[in-house]
Amino acid sequence: MSRSQEALLFEKSKPGRRCTRWSGADRKAAIEGLPDSELRDQAPALPEMGELELMRHFTRLSQKNYAITTNFYPLGSCTMKYNPVVHEALAAESQWSGLHPLQDPGEVQGALGMMHQLQEALAEMTGLPAVTLHPAAGAQGELTALMVLRAWLDAQGQNQRRTILIPDSAHGTNPASCTLAGFRVVTIKTSARGLLDVEDLRQALGEDTAGLMITNPNTLGLFEEKIAEICQAVHQAGGKVYMDGANFNAIVGVARPGDFGVDMMHLNLHKTFSTPHGGGGPGSGPICVTEELRAFLPIPMVVEEEDGYRLEHQLADSIGRVRGFHGNFLVLLRAFAYIRRLGAEGMRRVAENAVLNANYLRVRMQEAWRIPYNRICTHEFVARPTKEMGEAGSKTLDIAKRLIEFGFHPPTVYFPLVVPEALMIEPTETESKETLDAFAEAMQQIAEEAIRGDEALRAAPQTTPVQRVDEARAVKDPQLCFRCS
Ligand SMILES: Cc1ncc(COP(=O)(O)O)c(C=O)c1O
Repeated sequence: MSRSQEALLFEKSKPGRRCTRWSGADRKAAIEGLPDSELRDQAPALPEMGELELMRHFTRLSQKNYAITTNFYPLGSCTMKYNPVVHEALAAESQWSGLHPLQDPGEVQGALGMMHQLQEALAEMTGLPAVTLHPAAGAQGELTALMVLRAWLDAQGQNQRRTILIPDSAHGTNPASCTLAGFRVVTIKTSARGLLDVEDLRQALGEDTAGLMITNPNTLGLFEEKIAEICQAVHQAGGKVYMDGANFNAIVGVARPGDFGVDMMHLNLHKTFSTPHGGGGPGSGPICVTEELRAFLPIPMVVEEEDGYRLEHQLADSIGRVRGFHGNFLVLLRAFAYIRRLGAEGMRRVAENAVLNANYLRVRMQEAWRIPYNRICTHEFVARPTKEMGEAGSKTLDIAKRLIEFGFHPPTVYFPLVVPEALMIEPTETESKETLDAFAEAMQQIAEEAIRGDEALRAAPQTTPVQRVDEARAVKDPQLCFRCS
């Protein structure tokens, strides 16, 4: 394709327009020292634009995006809460962002100290004393913990224990992580109360049980009332309990998993501890484990000694490295700042307000919507369309799309799988009563439309740059380049 043909693909490009004009001397200085073989013989095919048009173009594009800084984002399980801007400013400061992970530990004592203090804070909040900050997301935390479990089982001569029990309400990453770590998965039923069916669990426990993976509060937003009994049953059968901590914002500062019998868990710093996420990153999924499992954690570990902090690379039983360097450092820094600013009292209020907001919204929505497990919930709840709405042909997908026209991000839909047509709503603790009221009113209006089976629902959204996309194809065949047709 010739350069002029390519330029046609840039609908805003005008030949000869420039943001900056380089003098011959500038150009010469820029390429000085580069071998001739690395130099282009033709200019690259880039759009030709003035600075103002370019600025407007990118600003407009950014406004087509949806963000927590513009609107309410009640995406269940994802905890899309406000991330204080001051933490962004902190992470951008060059004494943090300018560090190199290969620097001599003696030169980065502040950074190592921050990591060590964060480990201690997470250990304190979870009641699980040994922490690694390495995993880059919740899912990688799950995998890391399962590798730790496997190494521990092997060290005990228990390598016949290769089955992990997982409730049918679990997030998809749980069984996926088990399979990747070389375990078999057995599914445990959800009871009529929306909790793990303890009888079913007892039946499944056996000589091959490596452990239970349980989310608490679970994905229905309900606290596992029998968690201590559940942990005891798993321990008696010789297994360990892994807790998926994606919903930790519901109990942080109130209950400690280590105290109710959990042996290992991950935390999603990018949810509970308020760091920006979405679009695949950046995330951080530290794991916290009991003292018994410490020796198996990944290397390097940040350790404190009399004369300062150092990185321990020699741990005989360690599962080794799980990612490059020391985790998503600037995400760790933001989470650390959040914890230090709020303090113990503030962390507790996070959980209290998350639970209060979810219950307020649940009660406001309960008349118009079906709420399958309608009792006091934790930080989120699951609703679904009523029978009448279903009979009028209104689906959860239509409702989610219609919400966009009211300026709200849709909740998580069709998850957990134990509730058909699920709408999983997590308001988070950072939203005001006015926002929750506005959302409840929008849901009320949508409920009326859904009962009538209005066309507005099926046609939504009409106010967005693109309407309904083939979401499966968008993932499998993304068009990421301007050259794609
Ligand atoms: C319950 C639950 N577990 C695990 C995960 C995986 O976490 P991450 O997206 O950080 O990999 C999620 C993410 O949404 C989740 O909601």
